[in-house]
Amino acid sequence: MSGFAARFIDNPYAFFREARQRHPVLWQEFFGVPMWLVTGYKEAEALLKDARFIREVRKADTSGHQPVHLESSPPEVGLMRNMMLFRDAPDHTRLRNLVNKAFTPRMVQKQSSIIESIADHLLDECRARPQHELIRDFSHLLPAFVIAELLGVPKEDQSFFRKWSNVFFQFIDFNPSMERLESMTRDIEDAKRYFETLIETRREHPRDDLISGLIVAKEKYDQLNTEEMVATCLLLVFAGYETTGNLITNGYKLLLDHPSMYDMLRGNAALFPAAVEETLRYEPPILMVYRVVSDDLVFAGQSMQQGQVVMIALAGANRDPSVMNQPEDFNIVRSDCKHLSFASGPHYCLGAPLARLEGEIALRKLVTRLEKPEIIGQPQRKQSVIFRGYESLHIRAEVV
Ligand code: HEM
Repeated sequence: MSGFAARFIDNPYAFFREARQRHPVLWQEFFGVPMWLVTGYKEAEALLKDARFIREVRKADTSGHQPVHLESSPPEVGLMRNMMLFRDAPDHTRLRNLVNKAFTPRMVQKQSSIIESIADHLLDECRARPQHELIRDFSHLLPAFVIAELLGVPKEDQSFFRKWSNVFFQFIDFNPSMERLESMTRDIEDAKRYFETLIETRREHPRDDLISGLIVAKEKYDQLNTEEMVATCLLLVFAGYETTGNLITNGYKLLLDHPSMYDMLRGNAALFPAAVEETLRYEPPILMVYRVVSDDLVFAGQSMQQGQVVMIALAGANRDPSVMNQPEDFNIVRSDCKHLSFASGPHYCLGAPLARLEGEIALRKLVTRLEKPEIIGQPQRKQSVIFRGYESLHIRAEVV
């Protein structure tokens, strides 16, 4: 890892702050790739809602610009191109509307008691031990179980999630090498075959789960091919697993680092939703997302050319002093908490209500059930440029 990457992972916010001070929409080299870097809140929000900035790299003429990794991906990764996240309208709209038919507020609300009991069960399992590795024992298992429950994946198969998620996250991390991309394709094929079989099983024996709901939507509207359905299942696993796990770990670590906030929560459970929002703002699980310029245009006073890459620094926008006071402070009772951690515009996170629910329940359980928590050693940051989390977080605490 280069010195710049190590410094960036240590403190991406300092880098974004310096860029914002030069210009909220700045042309500069980032990890060796020249691109636009958007760090202003208003500019980032406007850009995410602007249809001239697209996800489908192949739709723009990128000749003359250094390619982003999606263009050089091996063909198997084509499955990813069937995910709504990587599509633009009209395909994006069609896929998203269909998933919305199955992924309803009722389905999310139904998860509440399930999340409570999964969280309690995981903490009960920790009871006998004086020390815990929070990520392995709790924060990544919780979202994995929740998504599995939502999709209708049998318990014994849930261990695959971590492996598949890692593969996906390496894929969308910043410009992975060709070798890394190629080594991922076998795992993606495994995941694809797994979901093809599960979809077939649910077609024959429907249940009250998301996959059965997608089958109904597919058959009723006939607008979703099997490849897209498999890609959608995989996207839900990828998008909702590691991100939510990082939200829980980041939130709990921030609370331990800010004892006054921790004490406030112990005394007032009504503050947990605000603690989740402030965590999302302060340490967003996804630091940045990208778009491609679809045509020559002017944005925020800058002339942009078709095919250029735009990196939208959600983490930078979230600390823009022009829209909030003292953005560098972690403060769960701030009155001006706003963030772009779920993005904005057509790709706004489809799972945001579920992620918030999981975050609230998880933090409440950790704060109320772990007595005298203490961090052991120096937690290591996840070695990722796009995702913000920890490799591990060792805690000494009594579980009550
Ligand atoms: C704290 C947890 C989460 C964070 C920070 C997060 C963040 C995001 C962001 C930033 C995007 C937009 C990406 C872009 O514009 O390029 C997104 C999209 C998406 N997220 Fe989440 N997410 C979280 C949890 C979840 C969960 C729990 C699910 C579902 C189970 C989910 C499903 C999705 C889907 C399907 C999309 C694609 C939406 C589209 O392209 O229209 N996410 N998420």
